[in-house]
Amino acid sequence: MTKAHSLPIEVRGSAKQPLGMTPAQFLRDYWQKRPLLIRQAFPDFVPPIQPDDLAGLALEETALSRLIVHDEKRDRWKVKTGPLSEKDFASTPNSNWTLLVQDVDKWDADVAALLESFRFLPSWRVDDIMISYAEPGGGVGPHVDQYDVFLLQGIGQRHWAISDDPNAPSDFRLDVELKQLSVFEPTHEWMLEPGDMLYLPPGVPHDGVAFGGPCMTISVGMRAPSQAELTGDLADYLAERMSDEQRYNDPDLAPAKAVGEIDRAALARLKQTLPFAAGLDDATLIDWFGRFISRYRNAQAPVPPEKELTEAALVKQLAAGARLLRHPWARVAWAKVRGGATLFVNGHAFPATAALAELICRERELTPGKPASAVELALLLALVNEGHLVLRKARRR
Ligand code: SIN
Ligand code: CO
Repeated sequence: MTKAHSLPIEVRGSAKQPLGMTPAQFLRDYWQKRPLLIRQAFPDFVPPIQPDDLAGLALEETALSRLIVHDEKRDRWKVKTGPLSEKDFASTPNSNWTLLVQDVDKWDADVAALLESFRFLPSWRVDDIMISYAEPGGGVGPHVDQYDVFLLQGIGQRHWAISDDPNAPSDFRLDVELKQLSVFEPTHEWMLEPGDMLYLPPGVPHDGVAFGGPCMTISVGMRAPSQAELTGDLADYLAERMSDEQRYNDPDLAPAKAVGEIDRAALARLKQTLPFAAGLDDATLIDWFGRFISRYRNAQAPVPPEKELTEAALVKQLAAGARLLRHPWARVAWAKVRGGATLFVNGHAFPATAALAELICRERELTPGKPASAVELALLLALVNEGHLVLRKARRR
């Protein structure tokens, strides 16, 4: 394997090798790993679309476009999402603005033809070709993308700054809707000319600013579903194909040792019912199931008391013999977990002790007296303040 420190960050391309190397070398050394600037990836590059056509596309009802104007003096950013109007363009300043149009490959066959050069990637990994037009100073500000992107300079010059520091801060500026980084310290800067291309893997902070005159940048962007999206969709897919008769079942049930406990036998049955979840660890499976089953088929929920009880007030009431009534709409279950127990109530999980969790599941009414630990006190306080346990003051003698 090639050592990372001997890999150049800048190479020269050619008509034969737009990546400046073979696709196999690029995939091995750079793809999803590190940035690469390819000078003249497309020698004598002729842009497949002109700025006027791009502006025309931004007027279309269904085209996805954004017009971004930067007020440099006050560092304010104005974002107008498309469809744009002739008036929007007429009112742009002479500099510091950019127009971005997504999915241009879907509208324009010449633009789509650029994808021929990216055939070495699975075609379903390609998202779109986004094209930007900018006047000097125009850009979207420093940011991070979640996807691999090839930034090909089409017209004019663009100054690119990136950071290949893996520990670069990733906090966003809260005052700008563009998800701009609040701190950006570039490690590399380049001026790109037409035909130059910058490859960035996901997560590399970058900032491209139009320089000198009109600037067009063509971004070939990839797509990669998140684990959350994949998981959600897979669950829907599987659920759609299951019959209503396939259910959790327990013909082997033995008398409960502890009321309300999701025990080892229940966990084993769950794993049998959900064979595709076999890869999950027990703690995750129990935590999910406890939340799920304690809110499953709940027609109503308890209402929190009007006035929140303080910890001191609860301690005082309990010491005086106050009772706690389990709200009829509180559905409870519990499980032993590492270092204690979790009590599940109406879809929520609360740290608990096994003793108190079982007591709450077993008794509709309890008189706990002085809580045995900080965990128990915090549990009772949370349950009272969420309405799952209703405090009844001790009767005066
Ligand atoms: C651009 O302004 O053309 C590129 C936007 C980006 O950095 O993703
Ligand atoms: Co970007």
